Amino acid sequence: MIPDRALRKLKDLLGPENVLTRRDDLAPFGTDATKLSYMPDAVAFPGNAQDISRILVLANQEDFPVIPRGAGSGKSGGALPVRGGLVITMDRFNRILLIDPENLIAKVETGVITSVLQEEVEKLDLFYPPDPASTKISSIGGNIAENAGGLRAVKYGVTRDYVLGMTAVLPTGEVIKTGVETAKGVVGYDLTRLLVGSEGTLAVITDVTLRLIPKPPSTKTMMALFPTVSAAVETVSGMTRRKIVPTALELLDRLCIDSVREELGMSVPPECGALLLIEVDGEKTITKRDGKRIRDICLESGALGFVAASRKRDADKLWEARRNVSPSVYKLRPDKVSEDIVVPRTRMAEFSSFLDALGRKYELPIAAYGHAGDGNIHVNVLFDKKAPEEADKVERVVRELFRKVLEMKGTISGEHGIGLTKAAYLDMELSRPAIEVMARIKLAFDPKGILNPGKIFPYKV
Ligand code: MLT
Ligand code: ZN
Repeated sequence: MIPDRALRKLKDLLGPENVLTRRDDLAPFGTDATKLSYMPDAVAFPGNAQDISRILVLANQEDFPVIPRGAGSGKSGGALPVRGGLVITMDRFNRILLIDPENLIAKVETGVITSVLQEEVEKLDLFYPPDPASTKISSIGGNIAENAGGLRAVKYGVTRDYVLGMTAVLPTGEVIKTGVETAKGVVGYDLTRLLVGSEGTLAVITDVTLRLIPKPPSTKTMMALFPTVSAAVETVSGMTRRKIVPTALELLDRLCIDSVREELGMSVPPECGALLLIEVDGEKTITKRDGKRIRDICLESGALGFVAASRKRDADKLWEARRNVSPSVYKLRPDKVSEDIVVPRTRMAEFSSFLDALGRKYELPIAAYGHAGDGNIHVNVLFDKKAPEEADKVERVVRELFRKVLEMKGTISGEHGIGLTKAAYLDMELSRPAIEVMARIKLAFDPKGILNPGKIFPYKV
């Protein structure tokens, strides 16, 4: 609970128009893409780092939780106010401050929507590669908090690889600068790298300096159809063996194809049990050459069909359909848990057989899709929470899934973060001393535990 005197103080600090306290107004700020829901006590719209600093000083004095929130598209519940408190939204941090084509950097406030930045830099023939499926609805700050990956990670890496420095407000109210605005820098501990992926638990990031690269002059998008997921993922290994690194290499299994079939804009016959969407980029001669090599590899590996999108609008349609898989699988069942495990690329066929067996064992449909090029598969366990015999099984399915992934030398989260939904499983992957050192880092930043409590750690820090 936030004491009334603290709410009055907040309204004085930010202006009453920037603080919400009516229950009806609060509800939308208590949910995200997990569809879980928790009610905050209040929501604030700070306008600059100083506002956030004052909020955090007050929260330390009055002892209430503060939960930073980007666009609310998170998949692990990182922005949910699990213990009530004040949600601070970054909506007003929506300016692109600088795009510098000579130093190849951009400076942006963290509420900027990722695709808005991508479009702006591309007007100058520059490129910001991190490309989560949610690019049109997620914010740069949310991407940084979760170290988002996405479709182009296979070639270009993840958000962390593009963050050079930032302005961050510590939970105790100090405003710090980390990192550099130059191409390199090694002064002191790398706080920038620590804060990227810290899921809003160590600081509130208000602006960032991002690395840009020149925009590849052309792209080529292709779709290959396979009888089974195993055949599709074996093809992925075939490409890696032949040293081909596509820009994107995405898998959809049969359930996912069914859920976006109409949106693909190209016909997919019923005997197709999996498809790969593949993109290459670079000079036209290179994309032409790689496109041909990829076609040969797919056909040699037993593809039932192979098409290259001849027009940009056909390619856009395919990618749009891919980005819509996550919400579209709800057409199949009303509820799902959505995981983002990673396994070594060479073991994806073994993993897909395991998934088939897991679905059969628990009699639940399991949809698999995502970033096959880097072994990062979104495993969606579909169920109906109104059917208790189904809902009761989900936790066991997830635990068995994670056990197998770890046995295969994989990881339980490639890009969505631990947040709330995976906190109970953290100790399956990390040793006790590793968790304890993280807890000590958390305490060093946030001695009173007011910033985004209840996340990452399986116990109260
Ligand atoms: C995706 O790749 O579609 C996103 O990470 C979202 C999801 O896992 O569902
Ligand atoms: Zn993804």
